[in-house]
Amino acid sequence: MMKKLILDVDTGVDDAQAIMMALAAPNVEILGITCTHGNTILQNILKNTLRVLKVCNRLDIPVYPGFNEPLLGRKVHVAGDFHGKDGLGDVPDPDAPGLQLLQEMNAVQAIISIVSKYPGEVSLVATGPLTNLALAVKMDPTLPTKLKGLYIMGGNIESRGNTTACGEFNFLADPEAAYIVLDCYTCPTTIASWEFSCRNSLPWSFCDTWLAQKTPKARFMESISAHTRKIAQTDRFQKELVAGPGFNTCDTYAVAAAICDNLVTESEEVAVTVELEGQHTRGMMVLDYIDVLHKKHKVTILKKIDIEVFKQLLINALK
Ligand code: RIB
Repeated sequence: MMKKLILDVDTGVDDAQAIMMALAAPNVEILGITCTHGNTILQNILKNTLRVLKVCNRLDIPVYPGFNEPLLGRKVHVAGDFHGKDGLGDVPDPDAPGLQLLQEMNAVQAIISIVSKYPGEVSLVATGPLTNLALAVKMDPTLPTKLKGLYIMGGNIESRGNTTACGEFNFLADPEAAYIVLDCYTCPTTIASWEFSCRNSLPWSFCDTWLAQKTPKARFMESISAHTRKIAQTDRFQKELVAGPGFNTCDTYAVAAAICDNLVTESEEVAVTVELEGQHTRGMMVLDYIDVLHKKHKVTILKKIDIEVFKQLLINALK
């Protein structure tokens, strides 16, 4: 049975890895890619997404422009230089596809329209701030009842931050959107948190082997990820890591969970919400183990995966 996906991305380097992983999976059909603000400005994210599709010979996949700022309209946190100013390592790409290839329809309308066309069949994978998803459920409150599943890379499970002391970037970039999504999406929801991605990172030696594949996709990934690989191994970045140095491809964990039924080896079900007010904790994901929130809907928090299965999905992405 083909898995029908919509990817909502803020194409930076790990979003590119996630898109390429999904494209390489024979059991996956990507019905559309919706873009949101996040790792860089929306214009760059749209261009980066088209660049990834071009290197994969999949410019047939529709790309929809989403929102370029959080719900409250004040972009407080930007991803800085981690992904490079342009989001893909600042590598010149004179043959990049033009934005005329974008769809007229906006991301929010696209999510509603595609999910409504295939009720119960489509899974939504979000690897950036959740602005588009929040607006989609506000425009169509029945959306979650028509979704097969929701997979999110974002949030934190032990208050660890990578942008503020307690804030993971995707949730912090639009905390109100994250709050609305975790409150309104009552479909099966799986979350790959920051700490989970750190604890399931790969050795840098695997990254070297992965990029050494003799393929155009590997050469593309090697070039766009050089900047990020350098930053990820600096002392400053090591402080953010929860489990020591490692090759953390954040967004690919959400895609891998969506496309591979035998990936997850340990998870837990818990009700969650997002802190909106805390001076130090705004954007932090709150896990309610003692049922004070009286939330019926519980999400699946990823804990452990089969690393060898995950590695193979990554290798396939660059073949
Ligand atoms: O915190 C990690 C997340 O922030 C990833 O989605 C990465 O692409 C950045 O957007």
